[in-house]
Amino acid sequence: AKVIPEEVNVFYIPHLRMKQLVKRYSEEIQRTDFTSSVALQSLLRHLHDTFVEVKCHEDIEDNIILEKLQKRLKSHRVDNVTVCDCHSNSQIGQMMALIDDGIAVRSRSSEDSMAFGMRLQQALNDFTSTFLPHMEQEEEIFQPLLVKHFEYSELQSIQQLVIVKHCAL
Ligand code: FEO
Repeated sequence: AKVIPEEVNVFYIPHLRMKQLVKRYSEEIQRTDFTSSVALQSLLRHLHDTFVEVKCHEDIEDNIILEKLQKRLKSHRVDNVTVCDCHSNSQIGQMMALIDDGIAVRSRSSEDSMAFGMRLQQALNDFTSTFLPHMEQEEEIFQPLLVKHFEYSELQSIQQLVIVKHCAL
């Protein structure tokens, strides 16, 4: 694939951060003792913060990148690509609900804590296995479309705004 200069690559830096978050939560869940209700609560609080950030990432993409791309494709009469619903199957909402349910029960028996931990791990694995290819799709399909249908200077502005919004989190 053609290398896209970083200053017009709207996904590269935010996705580095998202991949860092994935790596961190994967490592943390691996070393968490689910039989400990205290350890589970600590994991859940970190996951809560993580998923707030992931959700913001998705909103920033929707509001700053994908709507603009969809509009531009429409005005260039490219009718065979739909970009605006690329987050419609996102499991972020379900993950956040599960995490919040977990946080709401502050103390659990070790059996209950273990059972919740296993459920959480499964849900997180499912999430990760769709989130990583989703980011790849954005980089490999949407980024080239952006380069094709936007001016270099337009993309520079979009990229800068995307970075500023992420840094404000
Ligand atoms: Fe960049 Fe839609 O995750």
